[in-house]
Amino acid sequence: ALASTAPQDLAGRRILVTAGGTREPLDPVRFIGNRSSGKQGVALARAAADRGGEVTLIVANLDDGVLEPLSPGIAVQHVSTTLELQEATLLAAGTADLIIMAAAVADYRPQTVAAGKIKKETQGDTLELKLVKNPDILHELTGARHDGQVIVGFAAETEPDRDALLALGAAKAARKGVDYLVVNRVGWTETFGKDENVVIVLDATGRNVTEAEGSKSSVADRILDVVR
Ligand code: CTP
Ligand code: CA
Repeated sequence: ALASTAPQDLAGRRILVTAGGTREPLDPVRFIGNRSSGKQGVALARAAADRGGEVTLIVANLDDGVLEPLSPGIAVQHVSTTLELQEATLLAAGTADLIIMAAAVADYRPQTVAAGKIKKETQGDTLELKLVKNPDILHELTGARHDGQVIVGFAAETEPDRDALLALGAAKAARKGVDYLVVNRVGWTETFGKDENVVIVLDATGRNVTEAEGSKSSVADRILDVVR
């Protein structure tokens, strides 16, 4: 592989990135999931490694091919459910200088997981699912933040109005206790699985510190410029 030509401004920094979307099983063949492809999170890990960072990447259910070509210098861990992501993330967080929580985390999981396939025959014309809230990993991370550690959250919002979107982001940044929150608009056709993104980065106080638009790899570099 060619040596990186990027400035090595993250040399010596230990960076933890989560990417993809968690899935919560209902039975051995079904799950509740979300449409995150993992592309923006993987682009962040790549950009950070390219700039000399020592990167741990925890991935949940990436779209096919997103991790290829696998960059040397990125330690990848695979998880699927939110509880698995929680365990891996909290474990890796202890030694991280910078944590970027780009994964889309399922807020709820089925209260019980059926041991065998759920059959129509044993259900009526409607099927009710009981879901229980998952732990808020990001909130746990900021609660355990050590000196000098920078923690970055993501917020995917469907709010179409820009001012309302920014207000939602500012409230979320405060609620989560993050140093930065990367806000992006999502919808039926926006962002998910795409190679481009449009983001607004807010600081802990909800101030708009930068906006970036373009390929997910260029957006990753812009985010790292701000949060590193
Ligand atoms: N997050 C997390 N654990 C959860 C839910 C979310 O760590 N159980 C993280 C995500 O990885 C993301 C940030 O929190 O970095 C914001 O996620 P988001 O879903 O926008 O926020 P929520 O607090 O879940 O609020 P909402 O009701 O808008 O989904
Ligand atoms: Ca959520």
